[in-house]
Amino acid sequence: MQDRRSFLQRLALSTGAVILMPAVSRCGAPQASAPAAAVRDPNEPLRTEPAGWDAIAYNRERGNAGFIPATYQAAINAESGPKEALGKHLPYLPEVGSVPAGFMAMMWGDPSKGHGRHPNAVKSEANNQVGHWYDWIRVRRAEEGETEELQSSFSDWPGTAAADNGAYAVFGEGDITADGGKNTIYLAALPAEVKSGDRVRVWAHCLTHGEYVAFLTVP
Ligand SMILES: [Fe+2]
Repeated sequence: MQDRRSFLQRLALSTGAVILMPAVSRCGAPQASAPAAAVRDPNEPLRTEPAGWDAIAYNRERGNAGFIPATYQAAINAESGPKEALGKHLPYLPEVGSVPAGFMAMMWGDPSKGHGRHPNAVKSEANNQVGHWYDWIRVRRAEEGETEELQSSFSDWPGTAAADNGAYAVFGEGDITADGGKNTIYLAALPAEVKSGDRVRVWAHCLTHGEYVAFLTVP
């Protein structure tokens, strides 16, 4: 297994991207620091898709580097992993009616690709009181330069808290909790500059299964 740093360094080499590692200052005189905007989060995923990018392979590799819990790594590496563990956690655009302005509707595990549909669950003994839903989704335009990234928070399920800027809707007519919560639609807030037709990076976190990265085009 590799650690995050070596993974990120290799990633930087393979993509030509510049990834700055945070400097550690032990003591002594104050040091000049670069502007915050120039320092890239070493945990940040790809900003754009290289030609022929494979979302499943990328998320498996990133997951094995520590962004997916060790308890789920057997599942992502299993023969069924591409569809039932990795694919199940990748976002897709459900066919929905109107979406509130400034939001993007997404679900996880595209049935049209044969991926398992991602369930959602309240905190219970079955999930060690952690709950099972995406508690944050970050959206930014897929480009290398500086651009706003907006994080939507979902602090509970099937309802959100007043302070959350993310929201839920239901696919179809039923109750959001029906069918293991698989009909839950996530409404993620878009950065102000993002418009219809833009390619965006979606970087999201499932409470029990870790981080996933994908690229989508805003409807
Ligand atoms: Fe999950």
